[in-house]
Amino acid sequence: MAERTPLIAGNWKMHKTGPEAVQAAGELVKLTADAKQVDILIAPAFTSLALVAEILEGSRIMLAGQNMHWEPKGAFTGEVSADMLLAAGCSHVILGHSERRQFFGETDQNINKKLKSALAAGLKSIICIGESETERDEGKTFSVLDKQVQNGLKGLFSEDFGEVILAYEPVWAIGTGKTATSQQAQQVHAYLREQLAKAYGKTVADSIRILYGGSVKPENIAELMAMDDVDGALVGGASLDPQTFSRLVHYQN
Ligand code: 13P
Repeated sequence: MAERTPLIAGNWKMHKTGPEAVQAAGELVKLTADAKQVDILIAPAFTSLALVAEILEGSRIMLAGQNMHWEPKGAFTGEVSADMLLAAGCSHVILGHSERRQFFGETDQNINKKLKSALAAGLKSIICIGESETERDEGKTFSVLDKQVQNGLKGLFSEDFGEVILAYEPVWAIGTGKTATSQQAQQVHAYLREQLAKAYGKTVADSIRILYGGSVKPENIAELMAMDDVDGALVGGASLDPQTFSRLVHYQN
């Protein structure tokens, strides 16, 4: 089986001004300098990206945007393009976060356009998928995920998958303190890998990283990361404090 380097990613959402982000990033660089066995990424707000990029220079921490538009430029007030993220120092972009789907009307079709635009520009994507509480209760978890994956990744070729990371974030576990059990996460991740193997082949399925997101904390990360198919974490609340995020990065210790 392919070796998948664990990725611990912090999604700062709409938190931290530029100066606050610079301060936190500076602390993180120091606190995580020794963590060589994991990949580390943070996604600050757009207004902080270029400032934080300077702080991260020479460190192992990668930078991501939290969203982007699919068009390269134009009259799209309030939006940013893949090239703008790249020029601000990003290597990655988070696409299809459930908060974007829920509050900003993002659809799998939009996410698919964004993904293709990111790929064309040379930006790696973290594609978020996940079911709501009602969908889980109604036994629709797998059909919801199937739809999100099939439509979100439509038209991709096997060779594109080196630039794609999946993040399973059950909506009911985001910011709620309710974490999926490690068994629930493993069950879904294994299912996703199986579906990817069918659609894109075993090499893709074995090498793609699938992150878990939803109330990940220092207390539960080791158990989640011990699962065969959990390759990392996408962390919201617990990524905001550098000390806490550093504990997540050092989950193996
Ligand atoms: P929390 O870690 O705050 O639950 O948020 C998870 C998330 O949405 C990361 O993208």
